Amino acid sequence: HIAGPCALVIFGVTGDLARRKLMPAIYDLANRGLLPPGFALVGFARRDWTDADFAQVVLDAVKDGARTKFRQSVWERLADGIRFVKGNFDDSEGFTNLADTLATLDTERGIGGNHGFYLAIPPDDFPQVLEQLSSSGLAQAEEGQWRRVVIEKPFGHDLESARELNAVVNKVFPEDTVFRIDHYLGKETVQNILALRFANQLFDPIWNAHYVDHVQITMAEDIGLGGRAGYYDGIGAARDVIQNHLLQLLAFTAMEEPISFEPLNLQAEKIKVLSATRLAEPLDETTARGQYTGGWQGGLPVVGLLEEDGFAADSITETYAAITLEVDTRRWAGVPFYLRTGKRLGRRVTEIAVVFKRAPHLPFDKTMTDDLGQNALVIRVQPDEGVTMRFGSKVPGSSMEVRDVNMDFSYGQAFTESSPEAYERLILDVLLGEPSLFPVNAEVELSWEILDPVLEHWAAGGKPDPYEAGTWGPESADEMLNRTGREWRRP
Ligand code: BG6
Repeated sequence: HIAGPCALVIFGVTGDLARRKLMPAIYDLANRGLLPPGFALVGFARRDWTDADFAQVVLDAVKDGARTKFRQSVWERLADGIRFVKGNFDDSEGFTNLADTLATLDTERGIGGNHGFYLAIPPDDFPQVLEQLSSSGLAQAEEGQWRRVVIEKPFGHDLESARELNAVVNKVFPEDTVFRIDHYLGKETVQNILALRFANQLFDPIWNAHYVDHVQITMAEDIGLGGRAGYYDGIGAARDVIQNHLLQLLAFTAMEEPISFEPLNLQAEKIKVLSATRLAEPLDETTARGQYTGGWQGGLPVVGLLEEDGFAADSITETYAAITLEVDTRRWAGVPFYLRTGKRLGRRVTEIAVVFKRAPHLPFDKTMTDDLGQNALVIRVQPDEGVTMRFGSKVPGSSMEVRDVNMDFSYGQAFTESSPEAYERLILDVLLGEPSLFPVNAEVELSWEILDPVLEHWAAGGKPDPYEAGTWGPESADEMLNRTGREWRRP
């Protein structure tokens, strides 16, 4: 798919996201021949930059972060459509200049009034920028043109603020022109959940409460929060990751088959399953939260959260969160979904493990099955992308001893095609107007509805439990699972 001629305006071009993710992704799209001819990239910020200054910033970001090989000719074609507009969010003049710049580009580069606006800015600035886009006429498309807005999380900090934010956005941009980024949905391995479940006959018959004991969804990171206090302090792991990425993973794992992958059909199934999802109780026993203290990682000493720059010395922000969810449907009744995420954990890994019940009967000598665990299907989202199936197998030799083995599918071995970076796929979909991979309003609100009770519970008292950097989280998280006779995986 190649998008039609258009311009993408990025607000927040001096920020981390634009530099680390957006600019490299745009170059990679250009390099793969997926950007439309005439494509224009417009940066908007307070800096006193010329077009050439901004192009240099983009070039540096591309050289640092692009996945594909640098080619001068591709860069020159892209650079030809790079513009910069200086402006303040609270001053209409910048937006008038932006409108002029876009009007000129429309004719010069034949982009015909098709404009996307990417808000890579703190959410506090959303209302003002949206207001300016509206009053300057930039948000209104004429016949035969499109206008789209891309927004980044956090989409609010609880249900109420999410509703307010959605109302502000929808006042200016109708819902079908709003693209909310959850970059996990841009990952190949996440989209592959749909292929695994709905392109095969093998898994569906056992994908339910009759066979599944529980599901563990893990997103573990080894990095700490140095440099991110401004965003993270007061937000915490549950809002940062569970509300969006992990609940989307749950939705893909637990939803029913959509009648097609048309956006409305896919959304309908996600909305249905999220509507049936709720926290297991009592929350004291079914949830856990933690905060990392100093420790060792990758052979180096690292400081605890409270010593990181910018965090309040008495911060109670959690850097680890685990919750238990129940999905009240015929398929899933009684199957707990355990979701956990944390910073400064043992290693970086995201996976979905569907853990099956034990065989109802084992016709083996009891001592022969000591090393037999539960069957599991593990979707390895990253970094070692693939799928693992774990089952018991006879140990070679004269006795009937059985032990767990793994059967592996790895992207690197199975495919010669390389996976596009998540932002590449999502930016392309914005330009194409293809909304399937973007959560809608209702999903965002449902996710907050699921999470709000535990956020309130945590806010009502107590502190997160400490865990040493480089370990797998606080003891309370282990206790949470052990209480049910289960254990967290140590991927
Ligand atoms: C972001 C979170 O959404 O995802 C970060 O705000 C986190 O805290 C990041 O580090 C992880 O993304 P990925 O793609 O590296 O797993």
